[in-house]
Amino acid sequence: MRELKKFVVGPLNTNLYLLISGNEAVIIDPGEMSAELAEYVKNYRIKVKYALATHGHFDHINGAGKVCESFGCRFFIHEKDAYMVDKNPELMEAFTGIRGETIMEMNTFSDRTEFRFGDETIKVMATPGHTPGSTCFVSGDLMFSGDTLFRGTIGRTDIGGSGSEMARTLKMMGSIGENLRVYPGHGPETMLDHEKRTNQFMLNPDLAL
Ligand SMILES: [Fe+2]
Repeated sequence: MRELKKFVVGPLNTNLYLLISGNEAVIIDPGEMSAELAEYVKNYRIKVKYALATHGHFDHINGAGKVCESFGCRFFIHEKDAYMVDKNPELMEAFTGIRGETIMEMNTFSDRTEFRFGDETIKVMATPGHTPGSTCFVSGDLMFSGDTLFRGTIGRTDIGGSGSEMARTLKMMGSIGENLRVYPGHGPETMLDHEKRTNQFMLNPDLAL
């Protein structure tokens, strides 16, 4: 049985998702450790196998060290965003004035990596634009879109990203045939077909240029 829980964490209200299958789970975007999350994992005796980052911005990775230490899981990020993990303390400080955590635990994935847990598989979908290593994770009919696609808008491309890559990514996402449930890195969930019909950036990806 598959179950999805959302925890809103950190100063930028980042969505941290816990995707559970059987007694195993994966965390998507360990922005911050959360007491509520820790209690949930403990109460339901869930084994968290991986913590996956949709990209390297501090609000999505700052809790990776604590999360992996608490749950005994492994942290993974796209190889093209790995450089932000070492720089997390400074990068977070530059945006918030608060020094970020040092993240010791790090593994990288590439465009073809698959993660298995419980009865489920998570596939990596490379979606550069917001950052070079921005990734959407697809598991069955669920898509975790990070800061690439939000309900009604897209992520900015002016913090280490690229408008032309974002435009290409949006064109690729527009060609996905399945009506996936989209769970973004911030804000409410949506459906891919709804975004294709109503999101101005999906309707005209060149707006991202
Ligand atoms: Fe971001």
